[in-house]
Amino acid sequence: MSNTDQSPKTEDQNRAPLRVAIISPEAVPFAKVGGLADVSGALPKALHAEGVDSFLILPLYDQIDRSLLSETFIEDLEVPWRGRQPRASVWKSDALKAPTYLIDAPHYFSRGKIYADNDDFERFAFFCRAAVALLKRLENPPDVLHCNDWPCGFAAVEMRARRRQEEYFANTKILFSIHNIAYQGFFNPTDLWWLDLSAYTDDFMLKGAASALKAGIIASDAVSTVSPRYAREIQTSEQGYGLDWLMRARSDRLAGITNGVDYDVWNPETDPHIAANFSADDLTGKRECKLDLLRRFGLPEEPERPIIAIISRLVGQKGYDLIRQAASGILDTGAFFIALGAGAKEYEDFLQSWHDAAPHRVGIYKGFAGEPLAHQIEAGADLFLMPSLYEPCGLNQMYSMRYGTVPVVRATGGLDDTIQQFDNATNEGNGFKFGPYAVLPMLEKIREGLYFYKQREAWKTIQRNGMTTDNSWSAAAKKYIQLYEEIPSPN
Ligand code: ADP
Ligand code: GLC
Repeated sequence: MSNTDQSPKTEDQNRAPLRVAIISPEAVPFAKVGGLADVSGALPKALHAEGVDSFLILPLYDQIDRSLLSETFIEDLEVPWRGRQPRASVWKSDALKAPTYLIDAPHYFSRGKIYADNDDFERFAFFCRAAVALLKRLENPPDVLHCNDWPCGFAAVEMRARRRQEEYFANTKILFSIHNIAYQGFFNPTDLWWLDLSAYTDDFMLKGAASALKAGIIASDAVSTVSPRYAREIQTSEQGYGLDWLMRARSDRLAGITNGVDYDVWNPETDPHIAANFSADDLTGKRECKLDLLRRFGLPEEPERPIIAIISRLVGQKGYDLIRQAASGILDTGAFFIALGAGAKEYEDFLQSWHDAAPHRVGIYKGFAGEPLAHQIEAGADLFLMPSLYEPCGLNQMYSMRYGTVPVVRATGGLDDTIQQFDNATNEGNGFKFGPYAVLPMLEKIREGLYFYKQREAWKTIQRNGMTTDNSWSAAAKKYIQLYEEIPSPN
């Protein structure tokens, strides 16, 4: 035991740890559609490791694995709700190092999917109201309510109203994190009445509709987004999706904190999903991962031929229009192309026809594959393509780096912040980066990447530069803690 352990506690040591409630519509390992789930699963853990009393609140969707739950926490949660009173209870899970509370309301969350019903606004308004009802039932109120994306906008509005009226919430600060400003949670403003939110109609109104995102931002004490460059971009009319004026008005309280990587989950040295483990010092296992990947996608076992891969939601944001236009140019390079994606039918159809036209060169998986296949692709590919139209942060470029898979990205949002163009003169850089959203610049960078792929020494340097880049969550968690502390107290 050290001396400091025996000495009387200072005032600071006596202070209760910062208590942070994180509310999110998705989180790993419970339910995932995209990167928000990775972040919402990792941040409470990382904060906990820094000594924060953090916990997470999620909806209990029907597809969540029930073996992750530990106990019923509240049998009957009373949620003030007009009209039909849906039954709600709260479950607890210890699957993360920080506690997770899951709101069980089958009427809203047993839909076989997370989003995409017409009543999503109602489902998440209920989730938020139930979350605040749960907070009221806990022993202590949170110092910070950390809301994520439009589905949690209702929670920010509700908390702001409640803390004016209730002593219990009087000191709770509200942070709103924007993971994607293009998803604004629109619904018909006439529904505000029965949601008991008509007092905030002006805050909700955007482009003639009600927006849960806008009202959530307005109700919050501070706003953050997931990279410094995206924090600047959303203040411009090109990238603000009609909210740039609000972002500019809030610029003094708008932080950009780059997401981290959960190296407990994404680590080629220990990854249980991949054919062989490997590290920056010994990359030999990567070849086995590559052969395994080729087999999984029914492609010829030609380990010298480079693999270009992409894993993403199939939406315009991810740059699929460029890939479609560049399809023959990409194959002209001689590489394999492997795509994992779920989303818009037009892009699924494109992938299918590309595969049908070149079955020995293009491997596809349409649908949401779950974690193992994403890990196997990261481990087995050589280049990872992210030609995004915009990208608030992006996680796969950081996962790729850890797995010695070199990113080729468009210089936008978090991709620009996390990837440095390789410079052969200095041997610095961890990927390849193009600027204009156009086919030729993208193809040029793919070709440049493939040129260095053949220069084995340079390639190893780029791989090592990426593998040793530190994107761990602990640095990001410290920035969040500083931000939480800097938010002025509501009173
Ligand atoms: P976004 O949140 O915009 O979708 P990110 O790069 O932040 O983009 O995160 C995407 C996450 O979702 C990554 O963990 C990626 O591996 C995963 N992912 C995306 N599409 C699929 C899919 N079809 N199957 C499995 N995982 C996927
Ligand atoms: C969003 C963004 C993505 C980001 C993720 C997690 O879905 O599209 O860029 O990495 O949220 O913050």
